[in-house]
Amino acid sequence: MFETERLILRAYRDSDLGDMLRLRNNPVTQRLMTHDYILPAGIKYIESVQKWATESLFAVIVTSKPGGDFMGLCHLQVPSRKNRDADLGVAFLPEYWGKGYGTEAISFVVEHGFRWLALHRVSLVVYEGNTRAIKVYKNLGFREEGRKRKANWVDGKWEDIIQMGLLEDEWPSSPGVTHRT
Ligand SMILES: CC(C)(COP(=O)(O)OP(=O)(O)OC[C@H]1O[C@@H](n2cnc3c(N)ncnc32)[C@H](O)[C@@H]1OP(=O)(O)O)[C@@H](O)C(=O)NCCC(=O)NCCS
Repeated sequence: MFETERLILRAYRDSDLGDMLRLRNNPVTQRLMTHDYILPAGIKYIESVQKWATESLFAVIVTSKPGGDFMGLCHLQVPSRKNRDADLGVAFLPEYWGKGYGTEAISFVVEHGFRWLALHRVSLVVYEGNTRAIKVYKNLGFREEGRKRKANWVDGKWEDIIQMGLLEDEWPSSPGVTHRT
């Protein structure tokens, strides 16, 4: 549906379920995606994937170009439409980390959110130990807006949960983004 320089962002298909489980069941990835218990994802998660695909404002599977290999996901979820404030979520399989793909995908999704979905804000939460994600968000202009102290129990210790946000007038238009229908 959409493409950026190196990525295709398309709708979820039932055939993605195995890859979604692979992403969720990776213990390194899972602990960065949830502050709930770190557990093998099974039936309950499978049910939530359908809900994710149908109820998110915007939900995409990110695949490689041109091969179409599953790389990860990105979404915008809007708990209440009134304030046009969307929660961003993103996760890639570890083999794709650190190559600029996250920055590329998030840039597209944020741009799409402001330019096409009329958002006013993009919000997110990130865990203190996730320094890579924090770097990416700061690079893109997200600012720290709050910090829930020692709120996530991870690997035998507490860490802060950080709230970040980006306003529409803080986002420079990005002409490099291409849209394909
Ligand atoms: C977070 C995530 C989407 C980022 O995508 P990515 O493709 O790995 O990130 P990029 O390669 O675009 O950028 C990484 C940046 O972090 C920097 N970085 C890499 N490792 C780092 C580390 N351990 N600490 C701090 N910064 C780090 C890189 O130098 C780069 O910054 P730069 O462009 O200024 O040099 C991806 O790592 C991921 O899916 N992680 C697991 C799930 C997750 O954490 N989701 C976010 C939940 S809030």
